[in-house]
Amino acid sequence: MTTLIINIKQLVNATESYSLLRGDALAILPVINNAFLLVEDAIIIDYGSMDELKSKIPLLPQNVIDATGQFILPAWCDSHTHLVFAATREDEFVDKIKGLTYSEIAAKGGGILNSAKKVQAASEDELFQLAWMRLEEISKSGTGAVEIKSGYGLTVEAELKMLRVIKKLKEKSSLTIKSTFLGAHTYPLQYKENHQGYIDEIIKEMLPVIAQEKLADYIDVFCEEGFFSAEETEQICNAGIQYGLKPKIHANQLNLSGGVQAGVKLNAVSVDHLETMDEAAIQSLAQSNTIGTLLPTAAFFLRMPFQPARQLIDSGCAISLATDYNPGSSPSGNMNLVIAMACIQMKMLPEEAINAATINGAYAMEVADSLGTITIGKKQI
Ligand code: NIG
Ligand code: FE
Repeated sequence: MTTLIINIKQLVNATESYSLLRGDALAILPVINNAFLLVEDAIIIDYGSMDELKSKIPLLPQNVIDATGQFILPAWCDSHTHLVFAATREDEFVDKIKGLTYSEIAAKGGGILNSAKKVQAASEDELFQLAWMRLEEISKSGTGAVEIKSGYGLTVEAELKMLRVIKKLKEKSSLTIKSTFLGAHTYPLQYKENHQGYIDEIIKEMLPVIAQEKLADYIDVFCEEGFFSAEETEQICNAGIQYGLKPKIHANQLNLSGGVQAGVKLNAVSVDHLETMDEAAIQSLAQSNTIGTLLPTAAFFLRMPFQPARQLIDSGCAISLATDYNPGSSPSGNMNLVIAMACIQMKMLPEEAINAATINGAYAMEVADSLGTITIGKKQI
């Protein structure tokens, strides 16, 4: 079906030339005032100013929508979520109010381990239904592409179960979905003193099946003190690379973990979180093709300092914004909230935040050829 949208107050990020944005370029957001947009079967066919409508579209289609007073933007590209989970962790929310830190909650069996127990007990169908509802919810708030991680399974069976749920979501949803294997999210209790034992399970038992069933696009590791070291991160990601999975890494959330430098060395698509950065980590990222994905709602819900967005942008790092939607540290998949926080708390300009949540987010999922800007041939959502 062909649909023409007319009288659009502002058509945002409309451009025929796009690239990964860094430095001053992040603040350049092409807009067309009083615009039209022509869409056929969810693909953008044409757009321009209303002054050009008659010459560009002499024969109007039957389906015309008047968008007087309204803005149209490309859909949000949320490049970091954990939206397959069995239950939220509001009990830990109270622990946090009482003063426990993320690491202290994790050390007493809460956090990721708590979510893993619940995912292990849930059926594939239950997990699918819950995740489906969350996809519908984020789609209503403007998200058109989303990356989803495993990582609450932590056994061969439960990690594969999560990835199969994501595969089914990909097949059934109209959203564009990328899948990330995060078996290395934390050490299961039985491997607390035997890290190499769990790493071997990831490499020898999980990765071969994941590759065979094509269950993931990326590999992720929580590179953090008390979780996986930079060396362990490299070992796991290099094994993933052998199976065709590119790294996207949880780095520098709670400490200077070496995760940023490890990610750059591995040519990771992105290093995500970055609450805790020093000059060496910033310079290493600035001089690489790796994208720094900032997750302001994770900092907010954990009452942590926000990511140093200004410093990262001004140093030339390519950054994107994402929700980190998960049952504990970021129980929200709302990209609008992420953008508001990026502006209010991290001093990003609105133009920078919108670019970071659209075109740069699309690059952080390698879908920039079909999403992230209003461009002829790209998807409407
Ligand atoms: O990105 N930091 C590690 N992983 C997730 C949190 C997972 C959880 O707390 O359940 C994150 O914030
Ligand atoms: Fe995360």
